[in-house]
Amino acid sequence: MRERRALGATGLVVPVVSLGAGSLGGPELRDADVDHLVGVALDAGVTLFDTARSYGESEERLGRALAGRRSQVLLSTKVGYGVPGLPDWTGECVAAGIDAALGRLRTDRLDLVHLHSCGLDLLEAGDVVEPLRRAVQAGKVRVAAYSGEGEALRWAIRSGAFGAVQCSVSVLDQAVLDGAVADARARGVGILAKRALGNAPWRHASRPHRPDEAEAWDRFRALDLDAGGLDWAELFTRFAAFAPGVSTVLVGTANPAHLLAALSAIDAGPLGPQRLRSLRTAFARTGAGWAGRI
Ligand SMILES: NC(=O)c1ccc[n+]([C@@H]2O[C@H](COP(=O)([O-])OP(=O)(O)OC[C@H]3O[C@@H](n4cnc5c(N)ncnc54)[C@H](OP(=O)(O)O)[C@@H]3O)[C@@H](O)[C@H]2O)c1
Repeated sequence: MRERRALGATGLVVPVVSLGAGSLGGPELRDADVDHLVGVALDAGVTLFDTARSYGESEERLGRALAGRRSQVLLSTKVGYGVPGLPDWTGECVAAGIDAALGRLRTDRLDLVHLHSCGLDLLEAGDVVEPLRRAVQAGKVRVAAYSGEGEALRWAIRSGAFGAVQCSVSVLDQAVLDGAVADARARGVGILAKRALGNAPWRHASRPHRPDEAEAWDRFRALDLDAGGLDWAELFTRFAAFAPGVSTVLVGTANPAHLLAALSAIDAGPLGPQRLRSLRTAFARTGAGWAGRI
């Protein structure tokens, strides 16, 4: 039985590796591919699925693949936009977005619902926070969460309005470790680490076109790291998964072999202190001014 961890003080117990379903919504995948991936995940104990309104058909496909198995999993999604007829980032859009996600995911309760990266001004105004709180009270949502970076993330952690937050934690995104992540940990706010593989920049021979991948590639080159004989995916996964305060890493893949590779990486345990020190030192030297990647 693989390790499971408390997600802060939320009462949820999560696997160390979760499936980031960001790439499950595109036309290059068939429903059958998602069914297979979900089966592999469940067999391996990966029981938390993180999706969002903006991930194409991801929510619908997960809902379909998990029909009849809802009680075995934790479902996490994100709202705030994309409800036909309603302006994005309004209270009514958040409330209707939760109801729509319940329908697409074929469930009557979502385990985690994040506000998907709105800024500090919206958080402080409260209009988008309140409907999430009401959805928790109504039993539609178990844990209200926020996904984002920087000052909005810090505010969300301190606000008391969210039981968990999602932020980038990786070899390329270390600034949060001594700041927001440490703060969240002290306050019992659960942390889901996104982009834990740093968008796998080692795969690209030249600078990729997608902006988030391009930034990851720039950072990876600037850090000029030594894998020290480890596979990069393993090194990145172990770094994020065992960072103090992180409950789970969201591994973004549609490839069952990559999901299983993340589990094998976790089985190898935390990175040794010397390797960890050298990764932290490289970031402190080169990446000290880098903001968290949304
Ligand atoms: N809240 C937000 O705004 C936000 C933003 C970003 C991400 N997220 C969440 O976090 C999840 C993960 O983020 P992400 O997908 O952007 O980044 P990521 O997990 O750091 O990187 C994903 C990339 O890593 C590759 N990969 C995975 N395992 C690999 C392995 N063993 N060897 C080589 N390459 C491997 C994947 O390729 P393959 O597809 O070929 O496996 C994919 O291209 C998302 O799915 C989503 O749930 C949330």
